[in-house]
Amino acid sequence: MNVENWRRPDDMARIATEAQANAYIDEQVAALREQVGDKKVLLALSGGVDSSVVAALLIKAVGQQLVCVHVNHGLLRKGEPEQVIEVFRNQMNANLIYVDATDRFLDKLAGVTDPEEKRHIIGGEFIDVFAEEARKLDGIGFLAQGTIWPDILESEAGIKAHHNAGGLPEDIASRFELVEPVRILFKDEVRVVGKALGLPDSMVYRQPFPGPGLGVRCPGAITRDRLEAVRESDAILREEFAKNGLEGKVWQYFTVVPDFKSTGIKNGKRTFDWPCIIRAINTTDVVEVTVEHLEPAFIDHLVKRITTEVAGINRVLFDYTPKPPATVEYE
Ligand code: XMP
Repeated sequence: MNVENWRRPDDMARIATEAQANAYIDEQVAALREQVGDKKVLLALSGGVDSSVVAALLIKAVGQQLVCVHVNHGLLRKGEPEQVIEVFRNQMNANLIYVDATDRFLDKLAGVTDPEEKRHIIGGEFIDVFAEEARKLDGIGFLAQGTIWPDILESEAGIKAHHNAGGLPEDIASRFELVEPVRILFKDEVRVVGKALGLPDSMVYRQPFPGPGLGVRCPGAITRDRLEAVRESDAILREEFAKNGLEGKVWQYFTVVPDFKSTGIKNGKRTFDWPCIIRAINTTDVVEVTVEHLEPAFIDHLVKRITTEVAGINRVLFDYTPKPPATVEYE
């Protein structure tokens, strides 16, 4: 199969039911087995919706011939690497290589304040780590990717570069043929297929999360303590949204810890700590974004938890800015 020419048929029905998802899964499993044969398939598994669904499809099709590499760049949300290991290695018995590259990424990022340079370092380092793992493996014939149909349409329209083989060095990229089993699906269809494959809701219905991770929510030079304040406040926010029935209803919600301090008071003593900014937004197209207005009692509860439980935070601010003029992320 030449995947480059593999297009969504104009009359293809939107996959919305479990039966439709199962039919798609059966078709793909058969096609993947035929395409892959007895070779191995390599996949960078971030734990995001698309790569997780690709992993689950390939596990069903070729089992241990799939080699997943999960790179922890130290900028993931609390509990994410653990969930990837639990779901894929423990529950689905996947062949999973876990690389904790936290120190490597954070050392390279130390002192770097420019947002574009930060993104460049994170992206470049990710490719280096993944390529190093790939070079250690024998018998890999294929590289699997979670390309979806909007990626193809956007790249054809010249809006966004299609991140195929994502800038891998030539000695690696030339060794593999691409496998893109969700290439013709829209995002909502990928979720239905993921659900039918038995992936947990927390993986299938998760909110968007940028590739550079918490790095763009720790504006300016990333330090380990401020990054930890972002991670802990984000975990509290997600826990509270889930408890209060807001998970899946609000499109995206997260915290940002900017690089300045202000005076506060705790247990009768002066503090000099960071603020934590909460951003909760809704959108249909990501081009325009509106702010979710939270209940005052819920806001009070969030402020109390974050200021008492997160080290280094003495103030909570709310970002009530739509897009435009602001973007969703701070960097
Ligand atoms: P902005 O900040 O551009 O964000 O208004 C729009 C949406 O895109 C997500 N985002 C990213 N996703 N890599 C990604 O995969 C990135 O570098 C990136 N930057 C922003 C952001 O979280 C929001 O949902």
